[in-house]
Amino acid sequence: MGYAEIYQGWKDDPEAFWMEAAKSISWDKAPGKALFDDNAPNYEWFSDGMVNTCYNAVDRHVEAGRGDQAAIIYDSPVTQSKRSISYAELRSRVASLAGALRAKGVEKGDRVIIYMPMIPEALEAMLACARLGAVHSVVFGGFASNELAVRIDDSKPKAIIAASCGIEPSRVVQYKPLLDAAIATAEHKPDFCVIFQRDQAVAKLIEGRDVNWHGFQHGIEPAECVPVAGNHPAYILYTSGTTGQPKGVIRHTGGHLVALNWTMSNIYDVKPGDVFWAASDVGWVVGHSYICYGPLIHGNTTVVYEGKPIGTPDPGAFWRVIEEHKVKVLFTAPTAFRAIKREDPKGALVKKYDLSGFQALFLAGERADPDTIQWAQNVLGKPVIDHWWQTETGWAIAANPMGIEALPVKPGSPSVAMPGYDVRILDEAGHEVANGDMGAIAVKLPLPPGTLPGLWNAEDRFNKSYLDHFPGYYETGDAGMKDEDGYLYIMARTDDVINVAGHRLSTGAIEEVLAAHPDVAECAVIGVADPLKGQLPLGLLCLNAGCARVHADIVKETIRQVRDQIGPVAAFKLAVVVEHLPKTRSGKILRATMAKIADSEKFKMPATIDDPAVLDHIGRCLKTIGYASD
Ligand code: COA
Ligand code: AMP
Repeated sequence: MGYAEIYQGWKDDPEAFWMEAAKSISWDKAPGKALFDDNAPNYEWFSDGMVNTCYNAVDRHVEAGRGDQAAIIYDSPVTQSKRSISYAELRSRVASLAGALRAKGVEKGDRVIIYMPMIPEALEAMLACARLGAVHSVVFGGFASNELAVRIDDSKPKAIIAASCGIEPSRVVQYKPLLDAAIATAEHKPDFCVIFQRDQAVAKLIEGRDVNWHGFQHGIEPAECVPVAGNHPAYILYTSGTTGQPKGVIRHTGGHLVALNWTMSNIYDVKPGDVFWAASDVGWVVGHSYICYGPLIHGNTTVVYEGKPIGTPDPGAFWRVIEEHKVKVLFTAPTAFRAIKREDPKGALVKKYDLSGFQALFLAGERADPDTIQWAQNVLGKPVIDHWWQTETGWAIAANPMGIEALPVKPGSPSVAMPGYDVRILDEAGHEVANGDMGAIAVKLPLPPGTLPGLWNAEDRFNKSYLDHFPGYYETGDAGMKDEDGYLYIMARTDDVINVAGHRLSTGAIEEVLAAHPDVAECAVIGVADPLKGQLPLGLLCLNAGCARVHADIVKETIRQVRDQIGPVAAFKLAVVVEHLPKTRSGKILRATMAKIADSEKFKMPATIDDPAVLDHIGRCLKTIGYASD
């Protein structure tokens, strides 16, 4: 069956479609039905089934005779180490860690924060939580302690599992001081912390609170898998919204298992035993779905790569990993390929490696510019597949389903809607627009299994952010269009979220930090185009009347503040002092217009602007830092 038939089959009978997909999961009690719509428009999937994620991701493969197959290949150019962990080993390591967590009181439903770099132990910590039915929340290592504190207060973890450090090519990032500072700042205090010591920076443990990863497992009885209901939260993953308070996206267990397993064969076209590599980080949704859960649930080998696309040691790093570990499918963000292309424009290093077993490259996380796709296709000679999704959905809304049918690629489009997603392009009033016209991209409810059923501690915010604007639809926050063949084009965000190197950042959160600077009276942050990272945040600062300090000093201080409070991942390095910010007559700051000016794009003078002359002033200020050229 081709894509069109399968998509239509889902549309005709979604219940049968998902119940069929659910058969590939090993349930403790099979679900009686797929969709639970009693609380519509808040939907749930497989709620009456009983199941364990860790059993499906680990134990069942050992029981089925895959115990000796590598579950995880760890490849770390930054520490010059490599290691392979079989499914059998993974089972005993995870059961032991889960046993130790249980012995210290972690039970089903308890939250556990995981703050770790790209090491296999990060996946083991996630799986150990899943084994117990504990709800993990992984926090990306590039966030500062303040961001960690916000997540501690929101999720109220019983325990935090952290590594002593992460390793960036240019420096060792000590995690322990960040963890200690976060716990000191947070109102909620975890009962205990488990610290995985790395040789590069051994952390000092706090007696009575911290335990050593190995020590606390000594003599422990391994834990068995605890069955949970299909609608039990598997994890919370925080992502940027429009304010400084991140949104805690919840993932339910049953739908997560069913949907991810379906994607592995139907979208990525891999079979159990194949090697799958998502070059991202466990701190992002890509890492949750495709470094940890998807490949393991499906019986693949997953690669945990602790390095960068360039500089570790060169732009041939990805090709080396593909050859050495026989990677069949690579998934990364376009920014990684832009980085490689910049350093090896002719793709000379590709020729040094045997990529004959490599099947396809999948890109997501930001708009894949046609140039980058074309370049990747040329140097690799393999399909390059753009696909579109979000932290909220956990898997692709639109893709080219290589396991069903390789559809023609249209550069600039992540192809077509996947079964489960009825994607519509709406105007401001919620009416569908004609093919080829831009509008807000929305998905008809219910969303499929594996997508978010809500936000942690924030039901109202969930409804307000996603459901209220277009009743009966999920609002994606992206704008774009659909062509006559149903191909989607994702062009921009409709909110104040920007995308920096595939990382989603809130300009509102950065503004909150800038506004706290004692000399800043008012500010705005916009996303400006960047050839490597896609976008970069740029701050416009209005100072308090009478402030006579040197502007460059203030700019430097604000850059420092954002790095300290949000983290290096914000990549906030651009700011300029301005006299006024352009506003509408009702006082709304015209961020989108300023972004166009900064990028030297044509813009329409907003009809509601209060004082058009301010735009010239902004243009002049932006020129001083190399933006807004004529
Ligand atoms: N812990 C601590 N710091 C981290 C970190 C981590 N886990 N990850 C990144 N950082 C730091 C970096 O060291 C850098 O700090 P600096 O300002 O001192 O240089 C900063 O955060 C920005 O990091 P990054 O956006 O990764 O930029 P980079 O310049 O180091 O590398 C790329 C640029 C394109 C090579 C890099 O972004 C990349 O590999 N991207 C791949 C795509 C990806 O992983 N996307 C995720 C979603 S799929
Ligand atoms: P995140 O939740 O961090 O994965 O970010 C999701 C956002 O990234 C989406 O809402 C889009 O704005 C953007 N995005 C992700 N994938 C794509 C893609 N393939 N094309 C265009 N934008 C994308």
